[in-house]
Amino acid sequence: MTAFDVRHYDSIDSTNDEAVRLAHEGAPHGTVVHADEQTVGRGRLSRRWSSPPGNLYLSIILRPDLPAARNVEIGFIAALAVADAIETMLPRQERTTLKWPNDVLVRNGKISGILVEQTDDALILGIGVNVLEAPGGVSYNVSTIVGCGGLATVDGTRSALLTALSSWLDVWQRDGFAAIRSAWLTRAHPVGTPLRITIGDRTIEGRFADMRDDGALIIDTDEGRRICTAGDVGFA
Ligand code: BTN
Repeated sequence: MTAFDVRHYDSIDSTNDEAVRLAHEGAPHGTVVHADEQTVGRGRLSRRWSSPPGNLYLSIILRPDLPAARNVEIGFIAALAVADAIETMLPRQERTTLKWPNDVLVRNGKISGILVEQTDDALILGIGVNVLEAPGGVSYNVSTIVGCGGLATVDGTRSALLTALSSWLDVWQRDGFAAIRSAWLTRAHPVGTPLRITIGDRTIEGRFADMRDDGALIIDTDEGRRICTAGDVGFA
């Protein structure tokens, strides 16, 4: 069971940046930085993360005893926690789908973003959830909890998320990444789903086949089976 200690800010540059600063000062495992808005919210691949008031922005300092190669596991744990939390607030007919590596989708729109970063001696798990505000200016479909008929507040979403995260961290500690991988696979797009993976200026098209034991994406292309450890994945 992880005990979370939440520090709330009205406005901040980026909760991930503040979590890095606090980690350097020795803040313990479970410290949570939550802000109502971010002025320089960051996404994956050096993108901006639009962060107006109305959505959830938080970062958690984790100090797991983990070799760096296994840091990716945290992103899948977070995606499961976000999906569970969101589903407690959505109408019964609306469900989440997971897309590699850490995306959570509802009605085919991205409803959450997860950014795991390593600092000297801690992992920073940054999570954004679209509660009320749909970010504009992005090249993919987006959803919000309220827009999908959900009943949600930012604080309620935070509470549901931290509860779910604590549970999934327990599962991971008890049963290992195999249990996380298996839960992720049952909630991900089905095997055979056409995917387009962009890595820098290269694009690979194929069909979703599996997730490797270390979290890598396995796809079947016309040229054979390919393994992806990084990249942007969209539905083809
Ligand atoms: C993505 O590109 O999908 C990841 C987005 C992660 C956004 C969250 S919001 C809270 C935390 N602080 C940041 O600056 N980024 C993450």
